[in-house]
Amino acid sequence: MNPQAAELNAILETEGAAALKLLSEKGKRIFFPRKGLVAQGLDAKGKSINASIGEAKEDDGSPLRLSPLADRVKLPPADAFSYAPSFGKPALRDRWAAMIREKNPTLGQTPISRPVATNALTHGLSVAGYLFVDDGDEIILPRHYWGNYRLVFSEPYGAVMRTFETFDGEGPDAGFNVAAFSEALMSDGDKKIVLLNFPNNPTGYTPTVEEADAIIGVVEKAAQAGKTVLVITDDAYFGLVFREGIAVESPFARFASLHENVVACKVDGATKEDYVWGFRVGFITFAGIGLSGKAIAALEDKAAGRVRGSISNDSHLAQSLLLAAYDDPAYPGEKKRAFGLLKARHDAVDAELRNHPEYAERFVALPYNSGYFMCVKVAKGDAEAVRQRLLDAYDTGVIALDDLVRVAYSSLPEHQIPRLFANLYKACGDV
Ligand SMILES: Cc1ncc(COP(=O)(O)O)c(C=O)c1O
Repeated sequence: MNPQAAELNAILETEGAAALKLLSEKGKRIFFPRKGLVAQGLDAKGKSINASIGEAKEDDGSPLRLSPLADRVKLPPADAFSYAPSFGKPALRDRWAAMIREKNPTLGQTPISRPVATNALTHGLSVAGYLFVDDGDEIILPRHYWGNYRLVFSEPYGAVMRTFETFDGEGPDAGFNVAAFSEALMSDGDKKIVLLNFPNNPTGYTPTVEEADAIIGVVEKAAQAGKTVLVITDDAYFGLVFREGIAVESPFARFASLHENVVACKVDGATKEDYVWGFRVGFITFAGIGLSGKAIAALEDKAAGRVRGSISNDSHLAQSLLLAAYDDPAYPGEKKRAFGLLKARHDAVDAELRNHPEYAERFVALPYNSGYFMCVKVAKGDAEAVRQRLLDAYDTGVIALDDLVRVAYSSLPEHQIPRLFANLYKACGDV
């Protein structure tokens, strides 16, 4: 093992034991190479002749750049064309950390790591998998989950998905199945990895405030029973909660100070929160009451080490654009506008289902209240047959997931929503 990795592990051993227990073998070996090229580059910074950098420069010292690109970029060239650090653009990391606190007041002054920038959430999740998942480790998560988790966690790192029934009943009024979650978490074994994604893809469900409390309680009980728990929160759709009584903060805020056996790992980013799917900017952030400041920084180093070993660093152009947007006075108003648009579509789905009780004969909505999606369970036939029929006969595209049809209402203008459900009703009748 590289001595720099051993140094980080030694810090965790004395100042963050839960994190060390949770690290995978790969996670134990990874480190951010502070002593190599990076350190030599820092030594050379500010020297009048600096021949240490792997970026070409114009004669005036600014980044060498081609006018067809430079002419399209209003940002200062150094904020767009040059590399960002592997940890992420420092001002953006601090801004994102401040925004996490603003959006999750429960955090208060609870220490959290400086977010490390990733190539959006998929890559942030992959970094978490690298750090914490060994071959055969179980990941505990609700049955309805984003299918890409298998490519992120199972194929490369050998995670076994241990699912529990998402809901405690059938139909739109069911709730989160806290008992099933508890049973999964209290199963044999001391190392537990939990993956929570609210608002959820595919169901569009976020627990109520009471259910969120109960979920926290389940993890606390497991920790008190001696289990060491990593809770990864995939907060991709954070902020898009459309009904009253639903938890609006990330559960990360509570896990961050829950118990010394609990390590919280927040994966989030601008992709869906700021409607920039192609920018590829996300973050991975750590917290835990049993972790000292040095231990939290050791985890940051390990995450940034994995970033450096996979993508080297995230797009500087995209990071700078976002930082500029967060400082723009139009930003809060634009966020409200976008939220209003998606909420109106969510409300239109509600109205459509309410106004057409006959739809329940052919499909029943699963609980939904947030995010981009909602799902229906088809009463007869299979979801794939319904999907095919929708494509062939009704000029309508949806996603079929086992026995569910997932409807991405967020992507539809409101006026198309009635026709979508009418088509779904007809297609269900046809198959
Ligand atoms: C639950 C969930 N997590 C993560 C992602 C990935 O987001 P990104 O595009 O930022 O990688 C998605 C995208 O669909 C998602 O649905």
